[in-house]
Amino acid sequence: MKFPQFSMLPFLMVVVMLSLSGTTLSHPHWDFLLCLSLRLANYSTISKVIYVQNNPSYLSVLNASIHNTRFSTPATPKPFAIITPLKTSHVRSTLYCSKKHGFQLRIRSGGHDVEGLSYVSEVPFVILDLLNFRAIKVDTKNEVAWVQSGATLGELYYAIAAKTNTLAFPAGMCHTVGAGGHFSGGGYGTLFRKYGLAADNIIDARMIDVNGRILDRKSMGEDVFWAIRGGGGNTFGIVLAWKLKLVPVPAVVTVFTVNKNLEQNATKIFHRWQYIAHKLPDDLFMNVWITKVNSSQVGTKTVQATFRGMLLGGVDELITLIQDKFPELGLAEENCNEMSWIESVLYFGGLPLQSVDILLDKNALPTLSLKAKSDYVKEPIPESGIEGLMSMFLEEEADNAVAMIPAFGGKMDEIPENELPYPHRAGNLFEATSIVQWTKEQNAESGKYISWSRRLYSYMTPYVSKSPREAYVNYRDLDLGINNINDYTSYEQASIWGFKYFKNNFKRLVQVKTKVDPMNFFRNEQSIPPLLSPWKKKGN
Ligand code: FDA
Repeated sequence: MKFPQFSMLPFLMVVVMLSLSGTTLSHPHWDFLLCLSLRLANYSTISKVIYVQNNPSYLSVLNASIHNTRFSTPATPKPFAIITPLKTSHVRSTLYCSKKHGFQLRIRSGGHDVEGLSYVSEVPFVILDLLNFRAIKVDTKNEVAWVQSGATLGELYYAIAAKTNTLAFPAGMCHTVGAGGHFSGGGYGTLFRKYGLAADNIIDARMIDVNGRILDRKSMGEDVFWAIRGGGGNTFGIVLAWKLKLVPVPAVVTVFTVNKNLEQNATKIFHRWQYIAHKLPDDLFMNVWITKVNSSQVGTKTVQATFRGMLLGGVDELITLIQDKFPELGLAEENCNEMSWIESVLYFGGLPLQSVDILLDKNALPTLSLKAKSDYVKEPIPESGIEGLMSMFLEEEADNAVAMIPAFGGKMDEIPENELPYPHRAGNLFEATSIVQWTKEQNAESGKYISWSRRLYSYMTPYVSKSPREAYVNYRDLDLGINNINDYTSYEQASIWGFKYFKNNFKRLVQVKTKVDPMNFFRNEQSIPPLLSPWKKKGN
């Protein structure tokens, strides 16, 4: 005998699941679960896809992709359910049921959002976690790849290197960052002076819009395709996968590190660097990290500027270039290492150089609590300004802080400001992102570290971009302003942070948002609002 297609089994399983877990649920929660269970229609799928609170795996699934333990405390608001879709229809069902039953959806790929927006919300919410959307297809013949949003950059780089050592992709340096969030905000790394941002090298995408339609570049149209490549995540739809244009790299690249502390003229050398680095050939990437370190005198601290970089070429070429253009650095052969591009990924990611398999390990590095702030610098900072910056790193709160300062120029100078939502192109000498970190156990003292970060930001005011003071959306900073998360956010209100992240592109992003998601379903504290908010229209 054949059973009818519609079965009560999913419903019964949800009842059993919840009664066993002791969870007491209100109507919308029940309705959401029932809606989703009926659509998934099979217990074994339900048990692999839906994690409600008190499910024994709920916390491990939640915590697996939390990369800022500031948002991993008992007081942090938790999702009512985490959904880990196995296929596209599960994503559509989650979207459908969240909309129908009034749950906010937080989309999570790698979980690196520095303000935790992919897994924290002040209003009832579910997480759509793309951890099973990690497929990667590399086509070396056509020099393209498709990557699903839940894949990490490490997995992407690994998959490329498994097929060729002369192609790469120009994205970020941390191997656990997710493709989904990273590409949605731009994404830069060691190849960006040569090839631009990750987003500059995306040639197609697969996205589900608010109405559940599955769109590619052609069907979403150029406006939407423009917006999803840098306009910030959780705003225009759920991006399932991206098509990437791979870029050529030589079989051998050269990496180098030179450390200079205050006693070794770090201030003067960094001052000089500002005049030179952005004009160097685009085959060279150069980054300065400022950190507090032990000094040679036992028991005392100093500040170190670490000059780290990579040339798409050999060691002799690098030394000749630096000795000619930036002799103050004193670069010598012992500071340099020739290696393959994939090994350079380990080098810049702070990973041991032994085996590239570590790129597949999401727990290779410890997770800390952190606060980030970013700035763009267009005029060299005077020496006196750098001295003040260095002295802030001697403060107690800066024990585990870093200013990351990649030189701009090269390809970034050639791409017009409105080519993609990311507007920080020609005219920038460098970006300066500060990250202050502390351990989860020190979370009770978060305030003091965050206030150090704000003081540093305030100190930097005279030296950084103005009107607007620009910021990088991928180092999201809620101090810049937030949407009213469950209420009307005016264009003016969102403009405060919107122009900092996107400059004039903010206006076009608002237009696209108004067209594709006028009811503002996809939203978070800093998503682009539609021009006329649905709440305003209803007169609420
Ligand atoms: P996460 O999953 O938290 O998503 C971030 C945002 O995008 C959230 O709003 C989320 O809802 C949304 N989103 C995620 N997936 C989506 C999807 N499929 N569709 C629609 N929206 C989606 N940046 C950089 O340019 N270069 C670098 O080298 C680094 N390095 C780095 C190191 C570390 C330790 C951190 C914490 C961060 C960086 N970053 C960075 C910043 C990083 O690019 C940024 O945080 C990305 O948004 C992270 O993307 P994830 O997918 O990991 O985050």
